[in-house]
Amino acid sequence: MLFRYLHLLALVSVAVAAPTKTASLAVAQTSTDSAAIASAAATALTRSPTSNVKGKAFNRLLTIYLENTAYENAIVDANCNALIEKGVLQTNLYGAGAPSLPNYVAPGSGDIFGVNSDSFILINKNVSTVVDLLDDKGVSWSTYNEGLPYTGFEGFGYSNPIEGNYARKHNLLAHFDSVRFDQNKISRLKNLTFFYHDLQNQKLPQWIFVTPNLDHSGHDTDLQTSCSWTRSFVEPLLENTYFNNETLIYITWQANNEFHQARNHVAGILLGSAVPQKDKGTKDDVFYTHYSDISTVEANWDLHHLGRWDVGANVWKSVGERTGDAPRPWNSRIAGAPLEEYYWNQSYGGVFSSTIYQTNTYVAPNLKLERNGRTILPLVRHIWEDNCRAPTFEFPPGRYCLPDYYQDIIEVPDAVHPPKGFEVDIPLNPPPPIMTPITIYS
Ligand SMILES: *[C@@H]1O[C@H](CO)[C@@H](O)[C@H](O)[C@H]1NC(C)=O
Ligand SMILES: *[C@@H]1O[C@H](CO)[C@@H](O)[C@H](O)[C@H]1NC(C)=O
Ligand SMILES: *[C@@H]1O[C@H](CO)[C@@H](O)[C@H](O)[C@H]1NC(C)=O
Ligand SMILES: *[C@@H]1O[C@H](CO)[C@@H](O)[C@H](O)[C@H]1NC(C)=O
Repeated sequence: MLFRYLHLLALVSVAVAAPTKTASLAVAQTSTDSAAIASAAATALTRSPTSNVKGKAFNRLLTIYLENTAYENAIVDANCNALIEKGVLQTNLYGAGAPSLPNYVAPGSGDIFGVNSDSFILINKNVSTVVDLLDDKGVSWSTYNEGLPYTGFEGFGYSNPIEGNYARKHNLLAHFDSVRFDQNKISRLKNLTFFYHDLQNQKLPQWIFVTPNLDHSGHDTDLQTSCSWTRSFVEPLLENTYFNNETLIYITWQANNEFHQARNHVAGILLGSAVPQKDKGTKDDVFYTHYSDISTVEANWDLHHLGRWDVGANVWKSVGERTGDAPRPWNSRIAGAPLEEYYWNQSYGGVFSSTIYQTNTYVAPNLKLERNGRTILPLVRHIWEDNCRAPTFEFPPGRYCLPDYYQDIIEVPDAVHPPKGFEVDIPLNPPPPIMTPITIYS
């Protein structure tokens, strides 16, 4: 009832007042002019903090996201297969939405916020990310983005003559104002040159996210190219005694994106010295989503949670066995349908959706959730604990709180089974990307 009311008000304000989706907040550092790049690179602040926080199942995690490959194709490539044979293959893993961008927003923050384009989005600073959880417990982290011209570059894309083509949409943390406005964080969104630098100097952090350039990720090329690059990147690391010390390497594909009508079924591969011997060369049939990337890290280092879809997501089995997080099976009663009827091939609604006839507010995290002793991050509680508006001219007496649909469940919504108030048309094809910054305040 309440949401319907808010929804109507939102429509009215779209019709009569300023648009709710506006370009704003100065985004500096977007010029791709070579002189501007050179001068920004000369002064860019880059940091490589390290730490040694003991994890229950691993002391280091390196994640690599590749592009646009269906499960059945990924597992037959010879080079990817060579990696699969050395580790664990996740057979029941799904992307979060379409096109690419929502699948990078999900493992960063625990939801997709309605993103259904590859536009230049800036997610409000109230939205916390996985790195807030890591910072809270002193677990060091960095992301390495191949082709990024310098640390802190904010542009939409860049053709790097040395590292290859970079796209902002694949930069896990670039979309979040909570990262952008924090010098301490933005200085850890680096290029791949720094990966080799930090490796050489034994200054790698404990949590690492690697985004290959558009050729190496398969985005502008093909599966053969991406599996071949990934194998050549990963195999030397497996042999490196500094790097592969209680280390987990996770390779996955952001989305199927090959067959739009099909389910968003992708492969996941776990490698490294932290994979228990008994699990090497096996398949893991547990149901996972990209939210499991966050829940697994939370379980391993006993972190707080973000109060979103991260809370309930199944922890990777070989990790969960050591953290006391047993996987839960899909529950059709909770989901309202069997797993086979969930597609995740398009995004449900939300603030950044191209569908305007739906709620245009951020969804508040669920501060009350608790899973295996893990509770809401104090920072998240602080930001959101009073998200209800007092009565105003627009809002007659009563309390109007932001919607809050998160529960401690594994059954995350898709566009066919959306949270109430977040429906979209089926099909809703991704609109062309808007390449100038989009911010949404309400
Ligand atoms: C990587 O980033 C550094 C520091 O910002 C910059 O100086 C360097 O030129 C970048 N490397 C490439 C290949 O763009
Ligand atoms: C592996 O990590 C442990 C700390 O977890 C450290 O004591 C040991 O020296 C490391 N080994 C190598 C080869 O770096
Ligand atoms: C997603 O899959 C469903 C089921 O096949 C289909 O009806 C729908 O059109 C698909 N959406 C897109 C955007 O292709
Ligand atoms: C951020 O949260 C604060 C506190 O709840 C609230 O006052 C503010 O409106 C929020 N900002 C946005 C853009 O949602």
